[in-house]
Amino acid sequence: MSSLERHYSAKDIEMRILTGLRMAGLDPEQRLTPAQLAPLDHFHTGGLRASEELLALLQIAPDARVLDIGAGLAGAARLIADSVGCQVDCVELSADYCCGAALLNRLTGLEDRIRIHEGCARELPFEDATFDVVWMQNVGMNIADKGALYRDIARVLKRGGKYGFQEMAAGPVACSHFPLPWASEEKDSCLVSAQEMRALLLKQGFVEELLEDTSDAVLASPAASSTPAPAGQLGLSVFVDNLALKAANARRSLEEGQVRLLRGIFRKR
Ligand SMILES: C[S@@+](CC[C@H](N)C(=O)[O-])C[C@H]1O[C@@H](n2cnc3c(N)ncnc32)[C@H](O)[C@@H]1O
Repeated sequence: MSSLERHYSAKDIEMRILTGLRMAGLDPEQRLTPAQLAPLDHFHTGGLRASEELLALLQIAPDARVLDIGAGLAGAARLIADSVGCQVDCVELSADYCCGAALLNRLTGLEDRIRIHEGCARELPFEDATFDVVWMQNVGMNIADKGALYRDIARVLKRGGKYGFQEMAAGPVACSHFPLPWASEEKDSCLVSAQEMRALLLKQGFVEELLEDTSDAVLASPAASSTPAPAGQLGLSVFVDNLALKAANARRSLEEGQVRLLRGIFRKR
């Protein structure tokens, strides 16, 4: 899911989302809650539950400034803004997702607290020391130069600020089941091991507060992967092509140790 595989006009994006909402019995003319949208807009292993767990671990203050990198449809940003009350900036590479995120912000009445920036994680369009928290879920798998990524995250964080993430990491065995949700073929998958990730973060001056492998917990949970929703229910297939195969391959890769799911919190010194 590095980006949408097809590109739509802004109008098509809105139509896809509005149709998906109506088919799931939601009325876009009424104010929607972030929780109602969760099956559609948390594009990562573990879905809403994984976001809620990361949020609880990060303990974000209401006056904090938060940056969500690779925000997708900004489901996590709405969860954070709604439950904490803080301001969230989102950086997202895909213009299509930016458009969808802006629509969902309006439908939930959260557009005043969330700003969507179309841009790249590698060139964050912010001044140094702007944010208290940088949040990133299931994005780094598409970014080869993780050293440069972590350098820029450290740059935009304030001293003492936290980088909280969920990320797929390389397991002891190479990936062999493609397409995966983040990579149609091997060349698109940029995984490093947990040890390499830690070393790269420490090199940029971060202090480790948490780095845990949540693969087994997520495999044991019924919402383990981004499985397609049953007909008539809201789900990621509003946007993602070939979701059933990608989700099955992700699960198999986790089960066979080809990938590991990591959660981490690193503090800027
Ligand atoms: C699996 S989705 C996760 C979306 C969101 N973080 C979530 O968990 O719901 C990966 C997202 O990262 C975005 N992305 C990939 N590479 C990026 C980059 N270099 N800069 C910004 N966004 C990027 C993709 O467009 C996509 O929206």
